[in-house]
Amino acid sequence: MGATVGQLLMIIFIKFSFAAAQNNDYTYLQALKDAWQNTPPNWEDNSDPCSGWDGIRCTNGRVTSIKLASMLLTGTLTEDIGQLSELQILDLSYNRGLTGSLVPAIGNLKKLTNLLLINCGFSGPLPDTLGNLENLIFMSLNLNNFTGPIPASIGNIKNLSWLDLADNRLSGSIPVSSGATPGLDMLINAEHFHFGGNMLTGNLPPQLFSSNMTLKHLLFEGNQLSGPIPSTLGLVQSLEVVRLDRNRLTGDVPSNINNLTGVFEMFLSNNILTGPVPDLTSLNVLNYLDLSNNNFDKSGVPSWFSTIHSLTTLKMSKTNLEGVLPAALFSLPQLQNVDLSDNGLNGTLNIFSTHSNQLQQVNLQNNQIDDFTQRSQYTIELILVRNPICTGSDVSDKFCSLPTKTNSYSGKPNNCGLRRCPWNVLSPTCQCAFPYTGNLSFRAPSFSDLGNSSVYDSLHNSMISSFQMSGLSVDSVSLGNATKNSDDYLVINLQVFPYREDRFNRSEISGLGFLLSNQTFKPPAAFGTYFFTSDDYFVTGKNSSHTGVVVGATVVSCVLVALLVLAGMYALQQKGRAERATHERSPFALWDSTTGSGGVPQLRGAKAFSFKELGKCTNNFSETNNIGTGGYGMVYRGSLPNGQLVAIKRAKHESTQGALEFKTEIELLSRVHHKNLVSLVGFCFDQGEQMLVYEYIVNGTVRDSLSGRSGMRLDWTRRLRIALGAAKGLQYMHDLADPPIIHRDVKTNNILLDERLVAKVADFGISISLGDANRTHVSTQVKGTMGYMDPEYYMTQQLTEKSDVYSFGVVLLELITARNPIEKGKYIVREVRQAINKSKELYNLHEVLDPTIGLSSQLKGLERFVDVALRCVEETGSQRPRMSDVVKEIEGIMELAGLNPNADSAANSTSYDDGSLGSEHPYINDSIFDYSSNHFPTKVDLK
Ligand SMILES: *[C@@H]1O[C@H](CO)[C@@H](O)[C@H](O)[C@H]1NC(C)=O
Ligand SMILES: *[C@@H]1O[C@H](CO)[C@@H](O)[C@H](O)[C@H]1NC(C)=O
Ligand SMILES: *[C@@H]1O[C@H](CO)[C@@H](O)[C@H](O)[C@H]1NC(C)=O
Ligand SMILES: *[C@@H]1O[C@H](CO)[C@@H](O)[C@H](O)[C@H]1NC(C)=O
Ligand SMILES: *[C@@H]1O[C@H](CO)[C@@H](O)[C@H](O)[C@H]1NC(C)=O
Repeated sequence: MGATVGQLLMIIFIKFSFAAAQNNDYTYLQALKDAWQNTPPNWEDNSDPCSGWDGIRCTNGRVTSIKLASMLLTGTLTEDIGQLSELQILDLSYNRGLTGSLVPAIGNLKKLTNLLLINCGFSGPLPDTLGNLENLIFMSLNLNNFTGPIPASIGNIKNLSWLDLADNRLSGSIPVSSGATPGLDMLINAEHFHFGGNMLTGNLPPQLFSSNMTLKHLLFEGNQLSGPIPSTLGLVQSLEVVRLDRNRLTGDVPSNINNLTGVFEMFLSNNILTGPVPDLTSLNVLNYLDLSNNNFDKSGVPSWFSTIHSLTTLKMSKTNLEGVLPAALFSLPQLQNVDLSDNGLNGTLNIFSTHSNQLQQVNLQNNQIDDFTQRSQYTIELILVRNPICTGSDVSDKFCSLPTKTNSYSGKPNNCGLRRCPWNVLSPTCQCAFPYTGNLSFRAPSFSDLGNSSVYDSLHNSMISSFQMSGLSVDSVSLGNATKNSDDYLVINLQVFPYREDRFNRSEISGLGFLLSNQTFKPPAAFGTYFFTSDDYFVTGKNSSHTGVVVGATVVSCVLVALLVLAGMYALQQKGRAERATHERSPFALWDSTTGSGGVPQLRGAKAFSFKELGKCTNNFSETNNIGTGGYGMVYRGSLPNGQLVAIKRAKHESTQGALEFKTEIELLSRVHHKNLVSLVGFCFDQGEQMLVYEYIVNGTVRDSLSGRSGMRLDWTRRLRIALGAAKGLQYMHDLADPPIIHRDVKTNNILLDERLVAKVADFGISISLGDANRTHVSTQVKGTMGYMDPEYYMTQQLTEKSDVYSFGVVLLELITARNPIEKGKYIVREVRQAINKSKELYNLHEVLDPTIGLSSQLKGLERFVDVALRCVEETGSQRPRMSDVVKEIEGIMELAGLNPNADSAANSTSYDDGSLGSEHPYINDSIFDYSSNHFPTKVDLK
């Protein structure tokens, strides 16, 4: 016995001293790890979690954040979690293999602000200790299997703003305070009560609601609540969304619900409400009203409907309406959808004379309507099935049968032509990769016309904006398959594609998951709140056991065989295609005016080359002449018979465009002549090929120089000259080209340096010409490169020259920091804004400046340079300077730095120090030479 106690003490002692010597958090995190499978491979035993374990962030050696969304973790959350006493953020969302109960020790995390356990497999009761999380702001426990009552103690979390317990199996009544017992009525800082899809019973307690609440979303749908709606609900003036549908509520709707003047969406459907249809005259921002399936008194259609000008959707199926439907209802300007089925409406229907142009569907099934004024001329989807008008023997009217197509959105078609992916997925930018996927569910959208693509464009663009701000390396986002589910939630399928990679890595996945679990991404107002559920995402680089290696090797060899077969098939197909093409096409054959492609191109100085000529000058497009690869095809170096070096962009077959588009493109390119723009030498449109021949620029891209790949040192004065050169090139495009041209893809990979380090802007492949002289913007599908994209452009889809100015601002920041715009989860614009302190020397930017830029004493004008850069990246175009202003400002900075802005090149500034200019072609062989996408907004580097 004594020995046992002694051993125990010994163990305790050892554990204690170990913990003290190392770090408590290390011990407990290790214990959590032991209870989980599939933890990230870099969670190695005996390594410090704070030294870069995926998903772990520390401050002063203590773990402050655990973000492991979508990691496919399995196991249980053990008591050890309670020991991480400095933890502020815990996100384990979308790990459906995490099961067991939520341990009471969770309540020890006194510093926790965000608790996110969405869509895991947790079950059992919610511990009372949740109420001890005194700093909690955000609690999302939705989509688990929790049972039992809502702990009253949650009422003690006085700063709680977001409380989502939806879609569990919670039961019991809604707790309110009484004496010393806390309750949810005390949560006066809460904006969100999301309790839908549980089994809650009892009344909606009158005490729950008071005028000192700040609640915006009250979502109690799909429970078993009974009794009347308390009149105190009318006191919560902050409410925007009220969903009480699918409960067992009874009694009259209290009249002061008409006080809730800020409500956009109200759902009271599928209850047993009685008395008169509530008067909602004062809800003058109401978009969506669903009162269907209640026991209201028989009445005519309330006249106040016609006064709510913001209404998009009116649903009053099965509500005892009778009499004639007033035509005025259909004049509401935003009305999209009316469902008044299963009522006693009678007489003659009249909707056409005044109806709104957004009106999509009117469902009047099962009423008493016997005539329709606009019988032979209507365009909306009208349903009059089971009305007297449809009961005759000779009726064949369309409105007498149910519509076959459903109102839905299936996503934007891509522009990728014949491009296909072998086993991964084609992105909107025509790359093949493995996207992170899942569903976005919106609990109360303000619209019901699901087929209107512009509303999805706004969602798409706000998402892109959010991903860019977050610094995650996302290439593009695809939205598709929007439908309403049985809870009347709008569900949209989401695919997020990785930038320049085949797959996301673990830290990117947990970052994406967190952005969506934590509501960091905020959708446009029309969508209301959402929740996200991810599909399983497999990253590569798993822990591999021996069997794993063997299986892996087998899989790899199978894949290789499959690849070879595919490649063979592809080669045959291409050969056939090329043969056909040779028959069909000779140079200019397609520019025959009879084919509608508008005659021979009007070119200034650009030459048409035959396929044979270009083959000769590139040694038959040999491997050694290949200097770059992109989604659109390859770039080759060649030497023309007259000795001129050229870069030839050869489009892959699936990237070629129509003759007319190709012609438009070369006409545009050949018009542009400026010493700071790369010139087009010629083109080839022959034997099914589309190639663009550019002057060859020896010193590669500015990106290569900044990254050190080119071995060329860029000091401050060289960087100033490069900035000025590129700015002048863009200014020419905006102000002097006729018609003006917006580049659309300004980035350091598209600024090349010639032998004298003169900057030349390249790749106007996705440029847009403003055409008509009076236009100041064009509306287009958003293209460009993540990290450089103008947020205003993707919010509005309106492209102006100021979008180039934004991208150029990012280039300026890159010039001084040498960082990629998005690097290690950091967005350069935000980093610089955060680091800046204008009262300090060099604005306190020493930390972010590129160390190779030179001694700080020599950086004359750097502060002004930063000022210009930050003005260029202002949120709105109107606050940004024009390129001509940027040119003037950089010239001013150069004068301040003692340089002559009119001297031509960066090379003739003082520093020849590193000798790299002497070597003939410093980096031709390993350069990426990113002339980038010419035919598509693709990112380069096929994997
Ligand atoms: C929840 O629990 C029920 C019954 O135990 C089970 O059938 C169901 O699969 C569980 N759901 C989840 C999401 O774990
Ligand atoms: C709400 O305000 C009333 C007075 O307006 C006050 O008596 C009551 O205590 C407040 N409730 C809470 C929970 O603070
Ligand atoms: C709310 O409604 C009641 C009854 O309809 C009314 O008497 C009261 O003045 C309203 N309060 C506010 C703040 O509008
Ligand atoms: C329509 O119904 C109302 C109420 O039931 C009735 O008073 C009226 O006569 C009906 N009108 C017609 C045209 O049938
Ligand atoms: C939409 O749904 C169809 C069939 O349900 C599916 O094949 C397709 O992949 C889905 N599209 C997206 C973008 O999820």
